[in-house]
Amino acid sequence: MSDLSKMTDWEKLQGMLKKSDSESKRFSVDEQKLIDHLKSRVKGQDEIIHDVARLVRLSWMKDKRTRPVCNLLFLGPTGTGKTELAKALCEYLFGEESALLRFDCSELASAEMGKTRLTGSSTGYVGSEQGGQLTRPMFANPKRVVLFDEIEKAHPIIFDLLLQVMGEGRLTEQGSGKTADFTQAVIVMTSNALAESMGKAVQGLTDYARVMNAIKTLLAESGTFRPEILGRVDKVYLFKPLAGMQVAEIALLKLGKLGQEYGIETKFVAPELIIQALEANIRVSKFGIRELERILFDRYANYFVEARDAGAKVVAFEVAEDGTIVCNREPTR
Ligand SMILES: Nc1ncnc2c1ncn2[C@@H]1O[C@H](COP(=O)(O)OP(=O)(O)O)[C@@H](O)[C@H]1O
Ligand SMILES: [Mg+2]
Repeated sequence: MSDLSKMTDWEKLQGMLKKSDSESKRFSVDEQKLIDHLKSRVKGQDEIIHDVARLVRLSWMKDKRTRPVCNLLFLGPTGTGKTELAKALCEYLFGEESALLRFDCSELASAEMGKTRLTGSSTGYVGSEQGGQLTRPMFANPKRVVLFDEIEKAHPIIFDLLLQVMGEGRLTEQGSGKTADFTQAVIVMTSNALAESMGKAVQGLTDYARVMNAIKTLLAESGTFRPEILGRVDKVYLFKPLAGMQVAEIALLKLGKLGQEYGIETKFVAPELIIQALEANIRVSKFGIRELERILFDRYANYFVEARDAGAKVVAFEVAEDGTIVCNREPTR
């Protein structure tokens, strides 16, 4: 009897060990899968993606952390995938894009309002029970990507808060005095400040250390960032302007996504149609690809609606001789 109970204990122990083993595996990051996921959403920034994936995996695997998983600074021209990469990272690491917490730092340009927004009002002031828009969501779920867009526009006081977040992985709410934990979060800051001069400064440099030196010198000389901020950043990435082919790939990606929103798979798009959309995009905006989504919606949404109404699941877009869109549906009815 006692032997039997011992055996059961042993089995229990084995079971427990197995369980904790599989639990710890759940928190590991498969670097290749992460890379594949990031590449499926972000085009033309492969070097950055590989490096980010490696950095995130290595930091994620630590048993203990006293700082965020990593603090990243994304630099480069507007519309090159900085925000998109932060979203894709969040989707992979934390299961959903909605775990991303985003702050537009142009709205954090005033000292008092910015600080209140992030960490709430002091006790006794209006709204102190509501807490901060940074601290409260972190209390509710500390597993997030926290994105600070256009970081150079934030007030210096906001930088002080960020230094605490990045350096100690903690931030205290003003009213409640409770401390938010950032040691399971990834911090991403983006900036398109000095994008042009940065592009020039790093032209021809291939070695990462030299590129970073050139960038840091430029940032320091221009006074864009306080040196302490750069000191807390694990890695700085300079996003490249997108080439024509990459924009075409993005257009295709966006068209596919639009179809999915109507429950329709797009199995083919004639290259000429993509070129038409890109030309229309260039006509309305010289800067990047922000208008592309709206242009694709204007041109294609109705085809998806009609296809769905006709009971189709898959479409292929061909081009007619006069350049108009021909939508072939499957199954046809
Ligand atoms: N490299 C890219 N790969 C895929 N989509 C991109 C890329 N760059 C920009 N986009 C698309 O263009 C829009 C703006 O991109 P975003 O990432 O917000 O640019 P920014 O670099 O200014 O943060 C988004 O809808 C995004 O899907
Ligand atoms: Mg952005």
